[in-house]
Amino acid sequence: MHPMAILTGASSGIGAAAAEQFVAAQFTVINLSRRACPVPGVRTLTTDLSDARSMDESCEALSEIVTEQGAPSVCLVHNASLMLKDRCDSTADEAMLQALSVNVLGINTLNRALLPLLPHTSSVLYVGSTLSEKAVAGAYSYIVSKHAQLGMMRATCQDLMGRGIHTALICPGFTDTAMLRQHVGNDADVLSSLGEMNSYGRLVAPQEIADLIFWAHHHPAINGAIMHANLGQLEH
Ligand SMILES: NC(=O)c1ccc[n+]([C@@H]2O[C@H](COP(=O)([O-])OP(=O)(O)OC[C@H]3O[C@@H](n4cnc5c(N)ncnc54)[C@H](OP(=O)(O)O)[C@@H]3O)[C@@H](O)[C@H]2O)c1
Repeated sequence: MHPMAILTGASSGIGAAAAEQFVAAQFTVINLSRRACPVPGVRTLTTDLSDARSMDESCEALSEIVTEQGAPSVCLVHNASLMLKDRCDSTADEAMLQALSVNVLGINTLNRALLPLLPHTSSVLYVGSTLSEKAVAGAYSYIVSKHAQLGMMRATCQDLMGRGIHTALICPGFTDTAMLRQHVGNDADVLSSLGEMNSYGRLVAPQEIADLIFWAHHHPAINGAIMHANLGQLEH
């Protein structure tokens, strides 16, 4: 019986890199996102995390899959997020709700459907951000929701005490993915200057975060931990 990995947002970037690692390790891999995962062998349940009906359908399908497969271990990776450009003094409630629906409520819905079904030795891994513990200007709803994900991880650790399921928050720094590129308007100079903001003078590779996700699933000693992965970011 193969272990299972369930990831959100494995259609690109960090999620796709993590899916690749789990496939290589013979996991049954399921992705939830609007676009399909490009990695061969991954099954995508087409899902919009911000849409209640889409979430209901996917949660029902996932519950059946998890129950039927009886995998010895499940790694649930809350990876998808929406990053808007907004500020604390002008964000419309609708925009805040949009960010929270993907970055917080989507996680909550999946947790409610899946956590009661997860066997001993499973893990619930949250992909947060450097911005789970600090703030910069111009990313208000993202920062609010990344801080919320930290709280969700800590509460997961406490609420699942004794279940043999561990959790962690993996916090990437500037990582070379579509999200970062879009956020800076695909400006090569800005991307390069962001890469200069750490000890190694480059962006983090999505595969480096995927390595940590894979490692975290296999190391319950980190239960409740925040793992920063930013190559040693320069502090101002
Ligand atoms: N890149 C960075 O510098 C950086 C830094 C810190 C933290 N992170 C975190 O890393 C995680 C992965 O991001 P990434 O950098 O790999 O970005 P990415 O390549 O843009 O991937 C984002 C993923 O989120 C999914 N997603 C977004 N909205 C969704 C929705 N409504 N329903 C379902 N899926 C949705 C996308 O899938 P579809 O579009 O196919 O739906 C996509 O697969 C995020 O949590 C992000 O906050 C990234």
